[in-house]
Amino acid sequence: MPSVPSRSATDADVPALIALWEACGLTRPHNHPPTDIAFARKGPNSDVLVIEIDKRLVASAMVGHDGHRGWVYYVAVEPTQQKRGLGRHMMVEAERWLASKGVWKMHLMVRRSNVEVHDFYEKLGFSESEVSVLSKILVAQA
Ligand SMILES: CC(C)(COP(=O)(O)OP(=O)(O)OC[C@H]1O[C@@H](n2cnc3c(N)ncnc32)[C@H](O)[C@@H]1OP(=O)(O)O)[C@@H](O)C(=O)NCCC(=O)NCCS
Repeated sequence: MPSVPSRSATDADVPALIALWEACGLTRPHNHPPTDIAFARKGPNSDVLVIEIDKRLVASAMVGHDGHRGWVYYVAVEPTQQKRGLGRHMMVEAERWLASKGVWKMHLMVRRSNVEVHDFYEKLGFSESEVSVLSKILVAQA
């Protein structure tokens, strides 16, 4: 397992972070990554964690809690660095961040089109919950 620690993303990381998410197929037209990043970095209950190797941003996880559960989004490992343990390490760092905030249970959402990633999460001890996630737009993003 890589021992390189994660750190909080900075303003300077934003372009590389968005490029990472694009390379990993995580961006969608209805999401605006700069807004997502700024919002997650705004308060004490959420953050964007990154791992850098040789001055290249190679992994990310957006973490946060809503006062009840912890959540992780934008879990990504740069495609040429995948299958080397970085994804597992990034998730351990995400769990550590959430645990440091007092969170005792975490959730994540996987798009139905991304079924292959289930095996990754199962290997990390996650299991599918018997719930449906419903959503509603409150404010349209510009
Ligand atoms: C999912 C992702 C973060 C995994 O990162 P990674 O660095 O390749 O994962 P690791 O090397 O740490 O793998 C950990 C374990 O999961 C397994 N695994 C990883 N990806 C897998 C896959 N697609 N299918 C099956 N098993 C997988 C590994 O074989 C490894 O198993 P092991 O511990 O028995 O050796 C990476 O593939 C990625 O960025 N995917 C695109 C973005 C994405 O879909 N993110 C998730 C959004 S919900």
